[in-house]
Amino acid sequence: MKQENILVCVAWPYANGDLHVGHVAGAYLPPDIFARYHRLKGNRVVMVSGSDAHGTPIVVRADKEGVTPREVFERFHQRFILTQQKLGISYDLYTHTDTENHHAISQQMFRKLLDNGYLFKARQKQLYAETQQRFLPDRLVEGTCPICGYDKARGDQCDNCGNLLDGTQLINPRSRIDGAAPVVRESEQYMWDLPALSGRISAYLADKDAYWRRGVLEFARNFATDVQPRAFTRDLTWGIPIPVPDAEGKCIYVWWEAVLGYLSATVEWAKVIGQPDAWKDFWYGDASDGSTRIYNFIGKDNILFHTVLWQGILLGMGNLGQPWDGDTANPVFNLPYDVPANQYLNLGGQKFSKSQGVSLDVIDLTEKYGPDAVRFYLSSIMPETRDADWAWADFAQRNNTELLGKWGNLIQRTLSQIWKNFEGRIPEPGPLTEVDTALIAQSEAAFDVIGDMLGKVRLRDALGEAMALATATNQYLDGQAPWKMIKVDRARAATQLYVAARVIDSLTVLFSPFIPNLCEAARRQLGYTEPLFGTQFVETLREATRDHDALRYDASLATGNWAPSALKPGQALGGEPKGLVARIELAA
Ligand code: MF3
Ligand code: ZN
Repeated sequence: MKQENILVCVAWPYANGDLHVGHVAGAYLPPDIFARYHRLKGNRVVMVSGSDAHGTPIVVRADKEGVTPREVFERFHQRFILTQQKLGISYDLYTHTDTENHHAISQQMFRKLLDNGYLFKARQKQLYAETQQRFLPDRLVEGTCPICGYDKARGDQCDNCGNLLDGTQLINPRSRIDGAAPVVRESEQYMWDLPALSGRISAYLADKDAYWRRGVLEFARNFATDVQPRAFTRDLTWGIPIPVPDAEGKCIYVWWEAVLGYLSATVEWAKVIGQPDAWKDFWYGDASDGSTRIYNFIGKDNILFHTVLWQGILLGMGNLGQPWDGDTANPVFNLPYDVPANQYLNLGGQKFSKSQGVSLDVIDLTEKYGPDAVRFYLSSIMPETRDADWAWADFAQRNNTELLGKWGNLIQRTLSQIWKNFEGRIPEPGPLTEVDTALIAQSEAAFDVIGDMLGKVRLRDALGEAMALATATNQYLDGQAPWKMIKVDRARAATQLYVAARVIDSLTVLFSPFIPNLCEAARRQLGYTEPLFGTQFVETLREATRDHDALRYDASLATGNWAPSALKPGQALGGEPKGLVARIELAA
């Protein structure tokens, strides 16, 4: 099978507040599951993201606290690294947007769009906060949506109807910082000529029916048919300065450089691993046969940026035959293959909102229950097609009846029999009966069935399918009862336990993208010493003028394990089997 190049791009969180489980279920856990699956398949996977360092939300928080924006962003960057490390989100590189690399490539993007004729200057009306003596960024203005009438629309977009807005369009605008009504002021900005790109964006969206989530595609198409020029720059000092003379105090609008992070982070990853051209395989590699694919994992509030506007930047930079950095081989960027946006996860029926006390600390959760209990629950309720809800009783219930009751106990009851009755070695099977072969066949077929679902980013279904195989294995054991058989027919009991162990062995791979830590532990109990996955670590990366911490993953250790069990009789278990999954008891 041809090795595929899979670039897994993950939304860049704003470094102005902690991540909560809603973010995790929406945008961070799904790409990790997907990336782990493709690594197991033996594909070449690179997963990138980082902290979104710029933009006014960070400036505003810094002002409130009386510190610099850099202090705010660095604090949350470290928190994001810690949170995602605890959850085991296996980034090949999790960096941030204040690196020298990202600044340089963002400025190249600006030049490229300018040279290619997609940026023009215009005087633009913007909202200005007299109370703060600065232009008020769109997302910090609230008012009534001119399209649907929702009265809490933000200046950048309306969360009710999903349309992108411009702050000046809001009816009754008020500042989200102090409630004061902003005034309209003019300022000269570079505008982005999106209408000039809309034909190509629509063409890009035209062939996605077969595999895009329908809601995502409809949303994108609606928007792409009628795009307007948008400001490409902002009057702001905390950001990436535009690379033209006499443009003091003007930065690239944070969204345009943040999405560019997918590209710049791939470039940085290539430098970090010492293969500076490796990023080109993903961004320039021949995608015509489908073997090079870019995925963007996001929450639904980011759809337009990732289905239309990011494509507009890539098309605008890479067309007209203008090569990137002198690379003439294939100057056109690959565009995202799929954008599997998730819906929202709510908490007890309410939207997550730190300010309103609706929040769940991810670091706390992972410390209390272990990462895999959290990963398992979020995967089982993953909001792929509709909003979902974190409910504590459901969390405990699914952990106890499924993760522990169906998976953990299956392993425990099988391996403890082997430990006790077969000197801790996988028993030698005798002739297989029909039930035996049927269960083994089912476990082998599961690799295609579940692999297909994972490949299509139907993660919740894939987990359900793996759990169904665990259930079938439990039923097999209930029916065969090797603990009774051992007293009358030791050879038959050996066969039964061998069959169960073999299916469990397969299940440790099938479940592993979801619950990697528990699966690695189960495999050690089965007697394996080689891990399924590589290792995750934090590293300080050095640039000329500043260092930054990054979350990284070393894939060299393990890859290509997506295959049915080849468990060998005689293999010694890794010690006396101990229960792997803890019961969750909630305080009443
Ligand atoms: N920082 C934005 C958010 O948290 C999302 C950014 S995704 C990006 O909503 F690609 F634009 F960075
Ligand atoms: Zn609206």
